[in-house]
Amino acid sequence: MSSTLCENAIAVGRAVQEDRLWSNLMEMAKIGARDDGGVNRQALSLEDREARALLISWARERGYAVAVDPAANLFIRRGGDGDPVLIGSHMDSQPAGGRFDGIYGVLAAFETLVAMDDANISTQRPVELVAWTNEEGGRFAAGCTGSISWAGVKSLDSFLDVVGADGVTMRDALEETIDATPDIDRRTLGGAAHAYVEPHIEQGPVLEARGLQIAAVTSIQGLRWYRVEVTGEAGHAGTSPMEGRKDAIQGALRAIVALNELMLDPTDTVRFTVGRMEIEPNSPNTIPSKVSFTIDFRHPDEAVLEERAGQIAKIVAAATTPCSATVTQTSASKPGVFPEHLVGLIEGAAQGLDLGVMRLPSGAFHDALFVSQACPSGMIFIPCVKGISHHPSEYSSPEDCAAGARVLAACAAQLALEG
Ligand code: GLV
Ligand code: MN
Ligand code: MN
Repeated sequence: MSSTLCENAIAVGRAVQEDRLWSNLMEMAKIGARDDGGVNRQALSLEDREARALLISWARERGYAVAVDPAANLFIRRGGDGDPVLIGSHMDSQPAGGRFDGIYGVLAAFETLVAMDDANISTQRPVELVAWTNEEGGRFAAGCTGSISWAGVKSLDSFLDVVGADGVTMRDALEETIDATPDIDRRTLGGAAHAYVEPHIEQGPVLEARGLQIAAVTSIQGLRWYRVEVTGEAGHAGTSPMEGRKDAIQGALRAIVALNELMLDPTDTVRFTVGRMEIEPNSPNTIPSKVSFTIDFRHPDEAVLEERAGQIAKIVAAATTPCSATVTQTSASKPGVFPEHLVGLIEGAAQGLDLGVMRLPSGAFHDALFVSQACPSGMIFIPCVKGISHHPSEYSSPEDCAAGARVLAACAAQLALEG
């Protein structure tokens, strides 16, 4: 059931300025800008650090308190003591990412703080922007390491030895990133929060097709990630007989075909993706000796995830013979359901601001999935053109970006005014 928000909360929503939010988004999009219009600002990279520095400078101009924790999660606080209302998302992007995934939520949160200043309200609880580290997992698998360690779902230590696609360990990248901002407060990992609200582009086609600007997100599907390594034997492409070869790429291809069969689903609910493949020695006239590939497998029902995931190793072993293979799980998250009081609050905020709203489950994972294990959490989606995301052409209009920020600002104000 949707909630009715107080007048002051709706007034904060209306204080959001579309032009200001859009100009901040476009300014951020210059950092790590790609020639094709997208962004490459991977977690804990130089570009990530540059984006953090810019956001910190904006926060300083406004007089907000800034802090960083050992997972390099960045916090910008408006207001005094007590359990904060957390709002935000992530600043890292995919290697060929767009200008909105993640950073939109962080800048909508920043706009919320500024709208609160403009509306001249003081809240019972502090409102705190959070930019979680490494949501995407493109450089350091798994994703969401900042929110996972903040929420205590897994320890930060368990991620430190992860080696990025570029050979750098997460330990070193974290240290470099934290050291790059020596003049902001350090805080310990975790802590209590009253609630967390994350705005994000939908990354799917539903809102656009329905002509609505807002979705109150009900749930997030579960996921498993694996790294598969197939080991064969290198040899000369021209002279080695076909019989008796241990060709790692042929083994990997047979495994992927067999896994596609395992993942067949007439209802089209299962999601199965092989997104990265590495080949050694990667030469046209040498039989590949080693191939590694990733599996991203998702479903809203944990039982389906468990049942199919349980068959992956056996299927890979059979299909890759006579090569040998290892299957290593690199991430696992159970499906999550958001509490009704926050789904209803988001819905009520949209209605109070005269914005079209519906309820929607999320196919993508988000930091909110993990944060929800530490405090009540909710998510706001806005449309993105044709549902395209994880792609340089990702686009959400200034009007839709502002609509989502208005709903966020109204929700954050309501939660922070309540005391
Ligand atoms: C998040 O980036 C996801 O892959 O769902
Ligand atoms: Mn995202
Ligand atoms: Mn993403």
